[in-house]
Amino acid sequence: MLAALNTISTTNYSIQIGDESLDKLSVFLKKNNFSNIFILVDENSLKDCLPILVSRVQKLSSAEIIELESGEKNKTIEVCLNVWRALGELGADRHSLLINLGGGVITDIGGFIASTYKRGIAFVNIPTTLLAQIDAAIGGKTGVDLDGLKNEVGVFENPKEVFIFSSFLRTLPRREMLSGFAEALKHGLIAELSYWEKLKTINIADDVSWNEVILTSIRIKSEIVQGDPFEAGRRKALNFGHTIGHAMESYFLEAGEVTLLHGEAVVAGMICEAWLSNQLVGLAKNELDEIARTLLNIYGHIQLDSVADHRLIELMRRDKKNDSGVIYFTLLEAIGKPVINKSVVAADIIEALNYYRSIAQ
Ligand SMILES: NC(=O)c1ccc[n+]([C@@H]2O[C@H](COP(=O)([O-])OP(=O)(O)OC[C@H]3O[C@@H](n4cnc5c(N)ncnc54)[C@H](O)[C@@H]3O)[C@@H](O)[C@H]2O)c1
Ligand SMILES: [Zn+2]
Repeated sequence: MLAALNTISTTNYSIQIGDESLDKLSVFLKKNNFSNIFILVDENSLKDCLPILVSRVQKLSSAEIIELESGEKNKTIEVCLNVWRALGELGADRHSLLINLGGGVITDIGGFIASTYKRGIAFVNIPTTLLAQIDAAIGGKTGVDLDGLKNEVGVFENPKEVFIFSSFLRTLPRREMLSGFAEALKHGLIAELSYWEKLKTINIADDVSWNEVILTSIRIKSEIVQGDPFEAGRRKALNFGHTIGHAMESYFLEAGEVTLLHGEAVVAGMICEAWLSNQLVGLAKNELDEIARTLLNIYGHIQLDSVADHRLIELMRRDKKNDSGVIYFTLLEAIGKPVINKSVVAADIIEALNYYRSIAQ
């Protein structure tokens, strides 16, 4: 049985996890005398999460609410302009606080807006999706997409504190839960075989102890980030599945017909990159089969026509993770053992995409 409050402290800030995490927010607000408090939401976190938050943290009943339209397509600089202007009109000064209440889109864009408004005001994250609770809201990466390229403009800036209240997940649609679960699976694959084994036994429709999953994932991510906050080396392990995954996410975003969630794209990316791992760095065939089978069983298969390949490679070349047109990957020598900075030629990437197509059930 987990405690009602667990705290993970990083060098710069604390992450409060559990049923009593929002009480810690009250303490935080009392301790810091902010001139104004703004809460950034989208229409879903406004409807499903804000009433719970305000009922638990009385002081927030007088906060100004700024509402954005939900969705990745709104993680743009144009939306930032509107929020910077709204903050100005509502009288935000350098001693104001921005509370980001929502999924990864809200924590990414809200963190960026706060870090740049008047050269930086304080912000805290209250993530309300599984993906944001185990991943996006921690680690200090903030930003927006530009011309379809993911997270092309942004800064590293830490929140003052993060408050994780897993009961917010009760209203999260199943597809969004699965999208977040993909990042937990990634944490197992890159860092801890026993965590991967445990996650494989979880059916998200059951009564899952999410606080336990959240704690383990955050422990793994924050240990990696602490050692390499600006992604000079080790932090790149977290990019497993994301070189191909981000390209797929951008591709589907620009095609605009089918929506592909971040975690769904990362799952397809992890299957392709596990195949590359088997070909290039010695991931055992039985581990490749196990990864592909487990992920396909949970997530099914995404229809990806080979006409997409050229554009996908182009998107990978333009990704900020890559230099001078060379495409770098984080691969796996074994489950739990990542290898960073592996350059892979386009022909092999296309073979990996063909492998993905070949395993459609
Ligand atoms: N900064 C990082 O380190 C990092 C890491 C991973 C992902 N990300 C980013 O995170 C984003 C994806 O985040 P996401 O999956 O949370 O997406 P999201 O913010 O779009 O949220 C998903 C959907 O769930 C809704 N929602 C949020 N909370 C809810 C709740 N409690 N109940 C009901 N509905 C709710 C939202 O309105 C939205 O429709 C991507 O932009 C990705 O690039 C960032
Ligand atoms: Zn991700």
